[in-house]
Amino acid sequence: MIGADGQLGTDILEASRGDGHEAVPLTIAQMDVADPAQVQRVLAGVRCDVIVNTAAMHHVEKCEADPVRAFAVNALGARSLAQAANAAGARLVHVSTDYVFAGEKKEPYLESDPPLPLNVYGNSKLAGECFVRTVAEKHYVLRVSGLYGRNPCLEKGGLNFVDLMLKLSRERPEVRVVDDEVLTPTSTKEVARQMLKMLAMDAGNGLYHATAEGSCSWYEFAREIFRLSRSPVTLNRAAPGEFPAKVPRPKYSVLENACLKQQGLNSMSNWQDALKEYLKEKHRIG
Ligand SMILES: NC(=O)c1ccc[n+]([C@@H]2O[C@H](COP(=O)([O-])OP(=O)(O)OC[C@H]3O[C@@H](n4cnc5c(N)ncnc54)[C@H](OP(=O)(O)O)[C@@H]3O)[C@@H](O)[C@H]2O)c1
Repeated sequence: MIGADGQLGTDILEASRGDGHEAVPLTIAQMDVADPAQVQRVLAGVRCDVIVNTAAMHHVEKCEADPVRAFAVNALGARSLAQAANAAGARLVHVSTDYVFAGEKKEPYLESDPPLPLNVYGNSKLAGECFVRTVAEKHYVLRVSGLYGRNPCLEKGGLNFVDLMLKLSRERPEVRVVDDEVLTPTSTKEVARQMLKMLAMDAGNGLYHATAEGSCSWYEFAREIFRLSRSPVTLNRAAPGEFPAKVPRPKYSVLENACLKQQGLNSMSNWQDALKEYLKEKHRIG
């Protein structure tokens, strides 16, 4: 389990152990995926069925400022892991992103839709996908979106969107949120369950969209968070240009779990139900 202390990694680790699998956590302190020699050394001689990679450089502005590092982690790191997985005879489960799309479609993106990333992060993740799909003999590439989970995502300041909204609603009378980016917020716990189901059912090699069902803008996501938490805060749409994006991002990045559905394996709930479960579990709300 690589990226084991990240937001998604911790939930995958816990869910795997809960299902009785022996899971070995690896963090950046033990192995920097951007260092091919280190990856080879740490994983040499390892016998395992599955290598899961959730490690990534995914802070969009930092990727834009340091494309060399972004590609070293997200693209070449994925290649090193694909080679190590082959040597170990393991399946590589590699996590990717909705940001591989340009966001010009008006309906959910299918796995067969052509990607066209708008920024360095998306390009580096797309390159990583390509390496995994062409190098790893056994692999799943899982595209996820708008993650939130019980454990902090340190790269994004330690607070996911849900926790940030709850914090702001306690500190201010009014919260303003952008309404012009549509996505599917997805709980890391659900991704972990989905991944384990794919492994248990021996889903075919390939690229899979694995997000919650449905979609919303960030504004609509905040509205649901405040509704479920019965917050008295006033929520308003941010004015155009109020929070100017420093790096271009897709305006619409909703993914359809088409390949999971084709194989009868889609276990993702709609985003509102998953949010309810998260608020109950982490914040004792509801
Ligand atoms: N978060 C989202 O909203 C989102 C949306 C779409 C796709 N994704 C994808 O989902 C995956 C998991 O994201 P997440 O939210 O769980 O992120 P996260 O909480 O930041 O976890 C990523 C983990 O990877 C580690 N890591 C970073 N660089 C590394 C390196 N060079 N070598 C080894 N480990 C390294 C990080 O360690 P440190 O914290 O110590 O650096 C962290 O533990 C990523 O592939 C990301 O691209 C995320």
